[in-house]
Amino acid sequence: MSSHPQDPIREQAAEVVRAALADATQRPVVKSFFDEATFTVSHVVRDPGSKVCAIIDSVLDYEPASGRTSNASADALIDYVKSEDLQVQWLLETHAHADHLSAAPYLQEKLGGRLAIGHEILTVQAVFGKIFNEGTEFRRDGSQFDQLFNDGDRFRIGGLQAMALHVPGHTPACLAYVIGDAVFPGDTMFMPDYGTARCDFPGGDARTLYRSIHRLTALPDEARVYLCHDYKAPPGRDEFAWETTIGAQRTGNIHIRDGVSEDAFVAMRTQRDATLPMPRLILPSVQVNMNGGRPPEPEANGVRYLKVPLNAL
Ligand SMILES: [Fe+2]
Repeated sequence: MSSHPQDPIREQAAEVVRAALADATQRPVVKSFFDEATFTVSHVVRDPGSKVCAIIDSVLDYEPASGRTSNASADALIDYVKSEDLQVQWLLETHAHADHLSAAPYLQEKLGGRLAIGHEILTVQAVFGKIFNEGTEFRRDGSQFDQLFNDGDRFRIGGLQAMALHVPGHTPACLAYVIGDAVFPGDTMFMPDYGTARCDFPGGDARTLYRSIHRLTALPDEARVYLCHDYKAPPGRDEFAWETTIGAQRTGNIHIRDGVSEDAFVAMRTQRDATLPMPRLILPSVQVNMNGGRPPEPEANGVRYLKVPLNAL
C-alpha cells in the first residue's frame, strides 16, 4: 500500500474507497436526479444494508423573470425517498452554489435529516455578507447549518463510511464527499470531456483548484465519481451524463488528465474564466444558499425580497 505522509487525510479517504471496493456492503446505491433548467444533478445516496440515505445538492426551482419558486425538483426527491421507504440522515451540500437555490430547508421540513456544509462557509458568509450589505441579524458563524465539516471529518450514512474532503478553488468552502467507493466532487471536476469548474468567483483560485483536484485523482482509479453538473460536451456528446471514475478522469479529463502541469492548468483556467458570463442565478442563489437555503425574512407586507447589488460583481 502506498502512503502519502504529506497528505494523511487523502490517504484515509483512499482507505475508505479501498475498504468499499473489497466489501459490497460498503458500496452505496446512488439514484441521481437531473435538473435541466440549471444543469444540476442531485443524488440520493443509500446504504444498501439499511433504509438510511443522504441527499446531496438539492434544487429549489426558481424563475427569475417572475421571482417565483416551486418545488417540482424537490418533490421528485421526496417521492423517491417515500416510495423506497428511506430515512434521510443527511442533507449534504458540496458548497454554496451560485447557479441554483438549495431546497434543503424544504426537504428538511418534509423528510428530516441534518443539513451539512463545509466549515469555510464562514468565509463565504463574510465575503458575500459584505456584497449584500447584510445587517447584523445575518449570522456569519455558519449556525444556519446543523453541521460544519472540516477536512477529513468522518461520518456515517447508516452503516456506510463517509468522509468530507476540503477541496477549495471553485469556492473557498467546497467539499467533496467520499462515501464508500463513491466520490461526490461537487464543482471541482466535471465529465472528462467537459473538464473543470470555473475559479473566478470571489474567493476562487485556479492554483488551489488544481491542488484540490489532485487530492481526488489520487484516490483509487476504480472509485465511482458522481458529478454535480453536466452541460453535455458539444461537439460529440448529445446526452447529459454525470457518472464516471477517477481512472477516467486521470486518463481523459481535458483539463486535468495526468501530465497537465499546474502552470498549464492555471493559464488555461484563467484564460477561459475571463470569457465566461456570470451565472444567470448567482445573485439570488448565493444570497439564499449562504443562509442555509433560507430566503430573507418577509417585509411588513408579508412579501420576501431578494437584493440585486448594482456593479458589485
Ligand atoms: Fe458551484
